[in-house]
Amino acid sequence: MCGIVGAIAERNITAILVEGLKRLEYRGYDSAGVAVLSAAGDLQRRRRVGKVYELEQALASEPLTGSLGIAHTRWATHGAPSERNAHPHFSGEQLAVVHNGIIENHETLRERLKGLGYVFTSDTDTETIVHLLHHTLAECGGDLTAALKAAIPELHGAYGLAVISGSQPDRLLAARSGSPLVIGLGLGENFLASDQLALRQVTDRFMYLEEGDIAEIHRDSVQIWDASGAPVQRETVQYHDGAEAADKGEYRHFMLKEIHEQPKVVQRTLEGRLGNDHVLVQAFGPQAEALFAGVRNVQIVACGTSYHAGMVARYWLEELAGIPCQIEVASEFRYRKVVVQPDTLFVTISQSGETADTLAALRNAKQLGYLASLAICNVGTSSLVRESDLTLLTQAGPEIGVASTKAFTTQLVGLMLLTLALGRARGNLEATIEAELVEELRRLPTRLGEALAMDKIIEKVSELFAEKHHTLFLGRGAQYPVAMEGALKLKEISYIHAEAYPAGELKHGPLALVDADMPVVTVAPNNELLEKLKSNLQEVRARGGELIVFADTKAAMSNGEGTHVVNMPHIHDALAPVLYTLPLQLLSYHVAVLRGTDVDQPRNLAKSVTVE
Ligand code: M6R
Repeated sequence: MCGIVGAIAERNITAILVEGLKRLEYRGYDSAGVAVLSAAGDLQRRRRVGKVYELEQALASEPLTGSLGIAHTRWATHGAPSERNAHPHFSGEQLAVVHNGIIENHETLRERLKGLGYVFTSDTDTETIVHLLHHTLAECGGDLTAALKAAIPELHGAYGLAVISGSQPDRLLAARSGSPLVIGLGLGENFLASDQLALRQVTDRFMYLEEGDIAEIHRDSVQIWDASGAPVQRETVQYHDGAEAADKGEYRHFMLKEIHEQPKVVQRTLEGRLGNDHVLVQAFGPQAEALFAGVRNVQIVACGTSYHAGMVARYWLEELAGIPCQIEVASEFRYRKVVVQPDTLFVTISQSGETADTLAALRNAKQLGYLASLAICNVGTSSLVRESDLTLLTQAGPEIGVASTKAFTTQLVGLMLLTLALGRARGNLEATIEAELVEELRRLPTRLGEALAMDKIIEKVSELFAEKHHTLFLGRGAQYPVAMEGALKLKEISYIHAEAYPAGELKHGPLALVDADMPVVTVAPNNELLEKLKSNLQEVRARGGELIVFADTKAAMSNGEGTHVVNMPHIHDALAPVLYTLPLQLLSYHVAVLRGTDVDQPRNLAKSVTVE
C-alpha cells in the first residue's frame, strides 16, 4: 500500500525522504514522488512511475535541496499508475499534500471545487484534498493548521495525510483517520512516516498518532490535537531492537531470511508464556483469566494468510478445547448480518494490525454484543491492538517480504496457546494433554530447524514446477488450511495458478484437471487420516498426475515413478500444521527464484492492505 515520509530539519532532507521511501518499498507501490521546499522558498517536486530507483535517477539529474519535505509511494486506487497521478499533489505553487487511504466523497468534492475554479490535473481522490485545503486556507487567513482543522470534517473515508506549504515553512502537518502515521523524534529535527521502519535510519524514538489526531510538527516541537480538537500528549516509544530487520544480511531475499528466522521467532513467541506444564493465561492480558472461564464460542475474523492461521485454529479449538468456533474472512464478515451466539469471544488475527477489513470487522463486532475482543497481532502499536480488549503479540519482528511467512507460524503458536488456555479455563482439556502439548511446544523451534535443514532437497524438487502453469495442493484435517497457505504462497510470488482442496474433495471435481502437467503437492503427517490420504494420492497417480509429498518419516511413503517424497521430521500431530508450513514456503520461494519473479515485492500486491 501507499507509504508516506516527511521531514523538517536544518539540514537537507531529500536523501532522508528517499531512503525512507526505499524502506517502505516492501509495502508495494507503482509510483513515487517527493516535494521539497528550498531555502529560497520554492516548492518543487519530482515524480516517477515505477520503483524508487527511477525517482532517485530523476533527483540525480535534477536535484532538490531543502530542509522541509514530504514523499510518497503510491499504490494506485483512483487513476492508473502515471506520473500525473503520483503524489505529492499540489494546489497552486505553495501547497503540497501526500495521502494514504481513500476519500469516499471525492466526486462531490471535485464537482464543488471545480465550481470554485480549481483545475484538476490528476484522476486521484487526493487532489480534492489539496484543493480543498487551498480553498480553506484563504478562509483561515493563511493559517495552515487552522485550514487543515477546518477541512478535515469535509473528508469522508480513510486518510493519513502529510501537508507542507511554502507560506509556512516552519511546520509539517499530519492528520490520521483510518491510516497509520508515526512521528519520529530527532534532536532539532522531526520526521513523519506511515511506518516507523521508514525512519529507523534517523531515529529510534517515535510517537504514534491516534485516530482523529492532527499534528503540527516543528523542528524542535510537536503539538497534537485529538479528534475532539483538544490538545493531547502521545506517549514516546523508544525501540532498542529491530534495526536489523531492514537488512537482508546473508540472504538473497527478505522472504528467505524470514523463513529461516522461524525457529528463533517461534521461541520468542513462547517466551514467558509457558509454565512448567501449562500455558500462562495472563499472557493474554490481566482480565483474560476471568474472561476465558465464560467463553462458550469463538468467532475468528482475518484476511489472507492470517485467515489460514484462523482456519487451523478452528480444528484445534474444537478438538482440543471443545469450544465451537466459526471463522470468516473479514471482508465478508463486516458486511453480513451476523447472529451472535451468547458468550462468544471475538478473535482477530493480523500481522500488521492495520488491515482495513479486519479493523472494520472489529469495530462492527463491538456493536454486536460479543463477550470481548482478542487481537493476535505482530505490531504492538497497531490500531487493532489498541482497539481490542485483549492482546497476544506474536513476536515475529518486522516482516518485510510481502508474502507472509514467520508471521503465519507465530500466529499458529499464539493460537495454540489460546486453545490450551481456553480448554483449561472451560475444563475441557485434561491436564496431562496440556502438559504434553506444552512440552511439544518447547521442542517446536528445534523441529522447525530440522525442517529448514531440508532446504537443498526442496530446492531440487522446485525444478519440477519451473515450467508448470497450474498446481493442486491437498491436505486433510488441519493440514487442509496448510495446503491453502501453500497454494497462496505459490501464486503470490511465482504467479503459478495454485488451488487447494481437502483431499477428500478430489473426486468431486478437481480430479478432472489432473494430468502430467498438473503437479499435486500434499502434506502427509502420520495421523489417522494418512491411509485415506494415500488412497487419494493413488487416484492422482492413476490419472498420470505427478505427486510431491511432504511425509512424516513414520508414514512409510517412498519415491516411485511420478512420486517424489520428502521425509519430514516426526512431530506431534497437533503441531504438524506449523512444521509442514515450512517446506511449502521454501518450495514457493525456490520456484519463484527459478522463474525470476520479484520475490519480496510481487506484482500488484501490498504488504499492508489499509484500504478496502
Ligand atoms: O496484516 P494482515 O495479517 O492483516 O494481512 C492480511 C493479508 O493481507 C496477508 O496475510 C496477505 O494475504 C499476505 N500477502 C499473504 O502472504
